[in-house]
This record gives sequence, C-alpha cells and structure tokens, in this order.
Amino acid sequence: MYWPKLTSDKIKKRVIDALNKNVNYRETPILGIPGTYLDSEVFYEDAPFLENAPFLSTLIANPNHIGCHTLSGTERIFKGTQELENELIQLCAEQIFGGEKDEQDGYVASGGTEANIEAIWIYRNYFIKQYQASVNEIGVIYSEDSHYSLSKSVNLLNINSIVIEVDKVSRKLLPDDLEKKTAAALAKGIKYFIVNMNLSTTMFGSVDDIDKVTAFLNEKKIAYKLHVDAAFGGFIYPFTNDQNSYTFKNQNITSFTIDAHKMLQTPYGTGIFLIRKGYMQYVKTTEAQYVPGTDHTVCGSRSGANAVAVWMVLHNHGSEGWKTKMQSLVDRTTDLCCRLDNLGIRYFRNPNINIIAVYAADITASIAEKYFLAADSYEHEPKWWKIVVMSHITRGTIDSLMNDLKSGMKTEKIINVS
Ligand SMILES: Cc1ncc(COP(=O)(O)O)c(C=O)c1O
Repeated sequence: MYWPKLTSDKIKKRVIDALNKNVNYRETPILGIPGTYLDSEVFYEDAPFLENAPFLSTLIANPNHIGCHTLSGTERIFKGTQELENELIQLCAEQIFGGEKDEQDGYVASGGTEANIEAIWIYRNYFIKQYQASVNEIGVIYSEDSHYSLSKSVNLLNINSIVIEVDKVSRKLLPDDLEKKTAAALAKGIKYFIVNMNLSTTMFGSVDDIDKVTAFLNEKKIAYKLHVDAAFGGFIYPFTNDQNSYTFKNQNITSFTIDAHKMLQTPYGTGIFLIRKGYMQYVKTTEAQYVPGTDHTVCGSRSGANAVAVWMVLHNHGSEGWKTKMQSLVDRTTDLCCRLDNLGIRYFRNPNINIIAVYAADITASIAEKYFLAADSYEHEPKWWKIVVMSHITRGTIDSLMNDLKSGMKTEKIINVS
C-alpha cells in the first residue's frame, strides 16, 4: 500500500488545477443546468482567505458530481473535480483494499448508509436480472450487531432479512445459527443471498470472520454476493492489520462501504462506495436521460467538494503518515484497556480497532453521561456503553475518566474477568 504525502502547496495546486478544468459558472455561458455558484452575497468568492483554502474554494464553485464517474460518459462541465474523485476511488480501491488497477468502480456517497443501500440494491437487481429471481427469493444475511442501515436496505428494497446471532461475549457470528437460518431460508424458497460482513460493527468494533462464513457458503454451494460494511473500520483496520482477508484480492468480496467522515475526519457527506467493475450497470437509471452517462447512485446530485476533501486529507498524510496516525489511536485505545483491566472493568475490544464497549453494569450512568459515552440502546436499559478513541481524546481526558471511574464505580458490581 502506498500513496505519497504531498505538501500543502502541491495539494492546493492540484485542487485549483482541477477547479480550473471545470467550466466556471462565472466565465462561461452555462445555460442548460439547474446549478450555479453559491449565493454570492453570503459566500463571496473574493474573500481573501479563499486563496489558501482549496476545499472552501471548491464549495463555493459548487461542482455537482451527480452520477458515477469511474464509468464512461460523464458530465463535461465538472470534469476536473470529477477526475480527482476518480483518483480518490482508485486510491481507496487499489491501495487500501488491494484491487487490481482500473478494475473497480465507485463514488463518494452521502454516507455509510447510502453506500450500504447502494450495494444491496445492486445485488438485488443482479439476482433479478441474471437469475430471474423474485424479491421473495432474495435474502440478506447479516449479523445482529450490524448497522441499522442493513435493516433499512431490506425494508426499502422489499427483500428478506436473515439476521444471525452473535456470541454475547466474543461478538462472533454463531456458526450454528448461520447454518440453521440459511437452511430455514432455503426451505422457505430463498435461493439468492446477499451477505454483509462487518469490518467493524458500530457498537463493538468487532470484525466478522469472513473466511469462516465464505467457507461455509462456498461448501454449501450457496448463490451469494458479498458486501463489506467497512464504514467504521475501512480507514483504520487495513492500516493496523495488514494481514487480513478484507481486500479485493479475496474473490468472495464484491464491494465495500468506507466512511471518510468517521476516521478520516472529513466533512459529513463523505461515505465511499467501491465495487468490482461490471456491477454498477444493475442500478443504471436509464430514465436519468438529462444526466450525461445517466445515474447509478442512490443520491443523485452531490457536492464535488466532498470528494476533494477526502482526496486532500489522504494526500496530506500519505499512506505512511496515515498508518502512524491510526496505529497511535489503536495504541491509545490499548492503553485505556489496560487501565480498565486494572480496575476490573469488563469490556469488548478488537485489538486493531479504536472502539471499547464497556459492560454497562461496570460503570455508573453519571460517568457515562459526563463523558457522553454512547449506549447500545436509548429505548431500553443500556447493556453497553461505547468509548471511541478519536483524535480529540487526549491522554488528559483518559486520566480524568480513570480518576472518575476509580472513585465513582459501583464497586458492588465489579466482576473480575481475569
Ligand atoms: C458499521 C457502520 N455502517 C454504516 C454506518 C452508517 O454510516 P452513516 O451514518 O455515514 O450513514 C455506520 C455509522 O455509524 C457504521 O458504524
């Protein structure tokens, strides 16, 4: 995995060059599209700071990246920034996820939810088109710890859900349950399966054992397409564990969701969808006749500034810089875990991820509230409180949490797990 770190001058030049390749609403008679620059009284383009602010300049120029530009036939007005988006998709697919050169498509989606819906939409249509499947014959397999966007997709796309239980301590998918529920689905007439594997679940940071699941599916000769929800883990796990099966080298995987607006600290609206070539066509909306190349995305119009922001952050760090940054977050998380161990506080944690899910019984609600820990449920009594060790969590904050835990724990509920 390698991409270079660029100086801020080079980054600025590259973005400004891309903007200059776009057709500018101010200088060219663009009569045919319902877009323009941002309101010039509120977002005035001669603000002096814009000269050194390529992302803000892109926001103000307001390029629309509607459609999917790794496919041929895209909008010529925003060619420059769309090329930058393609470069970004290529970098993520090839450098981070080991894809072959030019063998993947993708786009910057509104977020992980959209990218997951996009994947399931594609595979639903694939089974309908290639196998004349009815929606009743298609089911989505995912773990009970999966993000709620999986349930949302199943609901929107009117297909079956097959939710697999996990072990309540290790958070691993239960193989018996996978076998039982798949057999029951087959018996019910479900013939085609869309499988979602989590490259880190939202609440626990657990990573599904993809090799076990695909070994089972392949052995049973089950017809499936596999999507990886790496919305959370996609920008950290490949950098903290380079020996893993979550890459395009793994032929069982067809697509990935990764969210830049989580670990990469880019603005919201920077989910990323990556898929092997040959699949986007299943969601081609031919009715989108006014869009050059038509549309293959869930969202339609989207800001080109989002793609630019992700491209900039990745090139500001370079692959080595990003690796160091992710490793240091994981180290800080490990440090916090050691201190929880010393207090006998129980938790779940994957060693390559910066999430710690603490047993709710081991922590007082007032501490959880003070530190804005996230509950697994706000509808029922929480069973877990989540800590995510992000960039703003300093060692000082961790010290303060530990002091509070030492003095404020419900000592009667501490259970030694060693
Ligand atoms: C694993 C996982 N998938 C999908 C999503 C959805 O992402 P978004 O909120 O960007 O739509 C999240 C968000 O937390 C997530 O953790």
